[in-house]
Amino acid sequence: MSSNLNFENTDTILNEDRLFPPKSELVENANIMAYMKSKGFTDYDAFHKWSIENRFEFWEDMAKELHWFKPWEKTFEWTNKPFFRWFVGGQFNIVYNCLDRHMETPVRQKVAFYWEGDNGETRTLTYEDLYKLTNRLAKGLQNLGVKKGDRVAIYMPAIPEQVAALLAVARLGAVHTVIFGGFAASALRERINDAGAKVVITADGNYRGGKHIKLKEITDEALEDTPTIEKVVVVKRLSNDVPMQAGRDIYLDELLADIPEDTVVPCEPMDSEDLLYILYTSGSTGKPKGVVHVHGGHAVGLYMTTRFVFDIKPEDVYWCTADIGWVTGHSYIVYGPLMNGATSVLFESTPYYPNPDRFWSVVEKFKVSIFYSSPTAIRGLMRFGEEWPAKHDLSSLRLLGSVGEPINPEAWIWYRKNIGHNELPIVDTWWQTETGMILISPTVILPLKPGSATKPMPTIEADIVDKNGNPVDATKGGFLIIRHPWPAQMRTIYRDPARYETYWDTIPGVYFAGDAATRDKDGYFRVQGRVDDVIKVSGHRLGSMEIESCLVSHPAVAEAAAIGKPDPLKGEHVKVFVTVKEGFEANDALANELKQHVRSTVGPLATPDELEFRPTLPKTRSGKIMRRVLRAQELGEPVGDTSTLDA
Ligand code: WT7
Repeated sequence: MSSNLNFENTDTILNEDRLFPPKSELVENANIMAYMKSKGFTDYDAFHKWSIENRFEFWEDMAKELHWFKPWEKTFEWTNKPFFRWFVGGQFNIVYNCLDRHMETPVRQKVAFYWEGDNGETRTLTYEDLYKLTNRLAKGLQNLGVKKGDRVAIYMPAIPEQVAALLAVARLGAVHTVIFGGFAASALRERINDAGAKVVITADGNYRGGKHIKLKEITDEALEDTPTIEKVVVVKRLSNDVPMQAGRDIYLDELLADIPEDTVVPCEPMDSEDLLYILYTSGSTGKPKGVVHVHGGHAVGLYMTTRFVFDIKPEDVYWCTADIGWVTGHSYIVYGPLMNGATSVLFESTPYYPNPDRFWSVVEKFKVSIFYSSPTAIRGLMRFGEEWPAKHDLSSLRLLGSVGEPINPEAWIWYRKNIGHNELPIVDTWWQTETGMILISPTVILPLKPGSATKPMPTIEADIVDKNGNPVDATKGGFLIIRHPWPAQMRTIYRDPARYETYWDTIPGVYFAGDAATRDKDGYFRVQGRVDDVIKVSGHRLGSMEIESCLVSHPAVAEAAAIGKPDPLKGEHVKVFVTVKEGFEANDALANELKQHVRSTVGPLATPDELEFRPTLPKTRSGKIMRRVLRAQELGEPVGDTSTLDA
């Protein structure tokens, strides 16, 4: 069926409903199939139906695979809706399951991470190496006064010490908040202050794509107004001279100097529902939201999805190209793979440096078998042509993945043909910072359709509804919602529970994802994109308001509106509309200055590609700027036609 496709002809692909059936040996050996068979199933739909009817049995089975200091008493509790709890009464630490548990098995000597630095240098860490580094770092942090419940900010490049930093913080029962290294000082400051972090762990800088990123200098600027920060730990990545503030800043190697190699700081036994981390993400209004994830249920969800979606086997070499600063890195570089005892690649550089075959040279070098990346990266690499992947031996690959934004069928086909030897499965995984884990995705047993995330994971009741929660003709599209909580879901928005409640009362009683989607006659979902004022640039999530607040902080700007516009490479790019204050001239010089202002305040990824000056902006009677109208005008769509997307 799939073997005679003409991959060069992409014209027909948008009407794609061809199925790419999985190879039978993949199905037979699939991790999920082993579990399904243990429950008497070989058909996914029948199994999925069973999993909804027996959701607690399913999750208990998964939880039993992990180590609990004390077993849970009650699997699920939802008395105080919309707040819920999983594995109530259990005592658990996710780090014990990532590291300590493996010290009694052969995994101890297995490679945890192959690290590839920007300029091609490599480091290899076994599970034992990572265990030792994490324990020493935990001791060092303890010596600085970090204890259970404290918040620690992590603003670091992708180096093994970054992974150890997350693990060390969580080991102590403290709460990490990782800030993406591409955020600017004020974004870092805002997150540190919201979290009330006591310590920040950073580096003396790093190189990315050959460019020097001055992490310590940016940190210093952020810390000009962060009253809760007591200490700054600086990892030497470049060993260049950076300013160190006496009494506040300490190099990691000094912090660890007197801590012996075999130091063990036992994992703090945490309540299942105790905080593991806060991760800030953009919403449609106001400041970034601190999405809260916990130790117990979160771990169970990540353990399951890593095992079933990526079908990880002991001999695999797994590579997720995301940054640890985003949820994908938290879930599928750090916690999920480590709990599964997997060997991973950790990558500091970019797909284009020094040439657009960097990914493929790393795949070849470490014999990567599972490769998980983003549509933006695939589209970007497509532009350079097939000759770049063709230079490399990619025969080690057996499974590909995609995440972060819709993957257009052309990119899907190119990915499968040029990277996937024309036959590998692509798992297009739909999820969110808030969902914590993958919710809609193929496993290796499902036939694939290009551009479709296929079907919900076990127990996940996804549906397409209108704004009142009523069923709609799902083939035409509507709002994507989920009907029942799952263990890895966020528990609240840090210090803002009312904002958490909006996820459950936008459409009463169900989890509102903020995406539009369709579901076809075979039950296959296609996620189309956001229906709120979240902009997805290269898969990264930005809030219109954050960009607008930044623009109006400039003395020349009276009002501003930011929208996302379809972009063939980045999925969306930022366009801003600006009115200037009296006495300022709307000219190219000012436009460039304003773009630069966003770049240096929010961060490079928020930089507007387009800026248009307008004498006025469309507003509601109460004075709210109507971004929707601007977007419709911009895309040449009828302004009134917002029927399904009117959130
Ligand atoms: C938003 C969540 C999921 C981790 C990384 C992003 C979009 C994500 C897909 C996909 C279509 C997708 C949605 C979602 N999205 N994955 N496979 N197909 N869209 O997490 O930054 O919280 O963004 O990303 O719009 O709501 P995030």
